[in-house]
Amino acid sequence: MKSKKVSVNLQNEAHEYDIEIGHDLLDASGEWARKCLALKTSKVALVSNVKVFPLYGAAVKNSFEKQGYEVSVYLMKDGEKHKNFRTLESILKFFSEQKLTRTDAVVALGGGVVGDLAGFAAAIFLRGIAFLQIPTTLLAMIDSSVGGKTGVNSDFGKNLLGAFHQPNGVLIDVATLKTLARRELTAGFCEAVKQGAICDANLFDQTAEFLKYFPPHKLNKYFSNEKFISSLEDLIQAQITFKAQIVMQDEKENVERIDEKSRKILNFGHTLAHALEKVTDYKRFKHGEAVGYGILFAAELSKTLDILDENKLNLLNDVMRRVGELPDTQNISLEKVFEAFAFDKKTIGKSLQWILLEDIGKPKIVGGKDVSSAIVYETLKKVLRDNLN
Ligand SMILES: NC(=O)c1ccc[n+]([C@@H]2O[C@H](COP(=O)([O-])OP(=O)(O)OC[C@H]3O[C@@H](n4cnc5c(N)ncnc54)[C@H](O)[C@@H]3O)[C@@H](O)[C@H]2O)c1
Ligand SMILES: [Zn+2]
Repeated sequence: MKSKKVSVNLQNEAHEYDIEIGHDLLDASGEWARKCLALKTSKVALVSNVKVFPLYGAAVKNSFEKQGYEVSVYLMKDGEKHKNFRTLESILKFFSEQKLTRTDAVVALGGGVVGDLAGFAAAIFLRGIAFLQIPTTLLAMIDSSVGGKTGVNSDFGKNLLGAFHQPNGVLIDVATLKTLARRELTAGFCEAVKQGAICDANLFDQTAEFLKYFPPHKLNKYFSNEKFISSLEDLIQAQITFKAQIVMQDEKENVERIDEKSRKILNFGHTLAHALEKVTDYKRFKHGEAVGYGILFAAELSKTLDILDENKLNLLNDVMRRVGELPDTQNISLEKVFEAFAFDKKTIGKSLQWILLEDIGKPKIVGGKDVSSAIVYETLKKVLRDNLN
């Protein structure tokens, strides 16, 4: 298998695994699993959804079976609204019916929703069994499948219940992105720009260059182009390397930390994103699209507070134009967004923390009390009313 690799080494858990990145890898996924799983593993529960499995399920299942695994398939319905307790319970029941044991494994094939659910089920079934991820959305490849966070949504909030459960391996086949919808690509690229902005000029420039040559709305046309495939693999590898570094040195998001290597900086752009998602009842935006506005807002706020230079703000805004159109925000109530800030689950105690930017690659965490409401309100107005598109 020809692939690029990122190794994740978690010292606290003495756990090490590889993320392999390449194209057309699914037919060899069984061999890859052999390398990641214990010799004793015999059964594999493949968790996917009704949209992804018809596209890529057979390749994975056949390849695993060729390696002698007994494969059972659980298909969930498509969509974030199914990332809940009911589906979790149904998956656990399925594992139990299949008589999975402590030495068996769960494989997630799909986007972040499938990954988060399957990972959480693997974390709690028999107090934790092996877990492999085959992410098929850009967001899942560069973000949700790296870091070990798993979980479900519930009546009291999104992603509030979950567990850290590191996978035994992650296999990224970039060719699966060919079938991904334009908006899902845009959402993924928003997270990529976010990671570039908080990492360094190299990752930021690499992301910006990629978007210049290969705009998301035309992406599916390039898949026969070798240079494109190779640039896409390189970009995903660089993005993952960054996220893995942050995760490795702040594995469980230490709440006390506010330094620039804290895992919290990954929430750059997310305070507004969560608020926008909440006030639109999670219906208007893909999460990444809301993060797109969050980035514009955090950058604008940084400039208004004289933390970020105007040139850098313009640079960020230019790159954000390349990710593709974001949903309209004209009729969203600014007051409601303002109120929703207070409910952000990433707040610590009662005070909000803004993750701002001093420069590309230099995030700065600023206490909510240090930024006046008037400034926040005016900046919000500017970003949500002077729509980019
Ligand atoms: N665990 C983490 O650290 C972490 C981080 C970020 C986000 N998340 C979670 O990830 C979820 C979002 O993930 P997502 O953006 O991947 O959404 P998703 O899993 O809902 O996938 C988006 C859509 O694309 C479809 N799809 C997936 N792969 C496809 C393919 N190759 N071709 C065609 N269609 C395909 C899916 O069926 C779905 O309709 C959210 O629940 C979020 O909370 C988790
Ligand atoms: Zn996000």
